Amino acid sequence: MPQTTPPPASARTVVITGASSGIGKASAEAFARMGWHVIGTGRTPERCADAEEDIRAVAAPGARVDFLRGDFSEMAEVKRVAGEIAGLTDQVHVLVNNAGGVRDGLYRTSEGLEATFAANHLAAFLLTRELMPLLERAAQDSPAGTVRVIAVSSSAHMACPAMNWDDLMMLDDFAANTAYCHAKLANLLFTRELDRRLAGSGIATHAMHPGRVGTNFASHGDEAMQSYMAANACIPPESPARTIVWMATAPELGCGGGRYFHDLAETEPAPQARDDEAAERLWAESERILAALG
Ligand SMILES: NC(=O)c1ccc[n+]([C@@H]2O[C@H](COP(=O)([O-])OP(=O)(O)OC[C@H]3O[C@@H](n4cnc5c(N)ncnc54)[C@H](OP(=O)(O)O)[C@@H]3O)[C@@H](O)[C@H]2O)c1
Repeated sequence: MPQTTPPPASARTVVITGASSGIGKASAEAFARMGWHVIGTGRTPERCADAEEDIRAVAAPGARVDFLRGDFSEMAEVKRVAGEIAGLTDQVHVLVNNAGGVRDGLYRTSEGLEATFAANHLAAFLLTRELMPLLERAAQDSPAGTVRVIAVSSSAHMACPAMNWDDLMMLDDFAANTAYCHAKLANLLFTRELDRRLAGSGIATHAMHPGRVGTNFASHGDEAMQSYMAANACIPPESPARTIVWMATAPELGCGGGRYFHDLAETEPAPQARDDEAAERLWAESERILAALG
């Protein structure tokens, strides 16, 4: 039977992907300061090691920090990391699907996937699916709506008018920045369909736009992206991290999921991100892509 008061912070577990840098790392530090069990993931070995040390250094007494590594453009790696998470905890109270970003060109993974779509969308889709039993177990022991799945999307989704159904991974006509906007639209459609499917489960799901943030983000992009980010003022990663912690913990966000936030306030995504038919179709296409990988 669900509880009416949330378990203490030390008994609450948050999984944050992309916690080796930027927004994910700042968020992991914030949860660790609050005494949570923080499970971070990252890709680059040195950044993961440094981040783990930095997160531990700020953790409150009683907090626990674990750090896992995997390249989330490879679905086998996502599955392996999900299994490792299940070895560390039997409950996940908050999942922050944050890992991702822009690339400087077309990269095909060893599984034949386009890396931007794979890391930004398919990895979040698969990790959420794999961790669902742990989220459901947490929901059984928690007040309704306090278990949450959060997607770090972007206002870049507004530059993408629709999903490219004929070529979802844009393999026939690739442009790095367009692929990024497309993947960020996918984050919002995934959140929408996930919310519909989670109705009545006690698990709430929301998405957010972090703003233009000073992180390693641009370093993975092409020259145009690097110049754009260098020419414009950026906010520090602690700012979106505050919004992520608020989205994870504010009681008022527990009811009515599928919402979109920026800077501690709800905001409106583009109409193409509110398309129920597209949301359902993206879910089916994502299942199909993953099933084909075996
Ligand atoms: N910065 C912005 O202005 C901005 C704006 C809108 C949205 N966002 C979104 O915010 C999220 C976080 O980005 P950030 O700005 O904090 O950039 P960042 O400093 O580059 O951090 C990105 C994080 O994601 C991880 N990551 C990226 N690709 C991965 C992959 N294939 N497999 C596993 N991990 C991967 C990185 O791991 P390693 O560093 O260990 O490789 C890192 O931990 C992204 O989803 C991005 O699209 C950022």
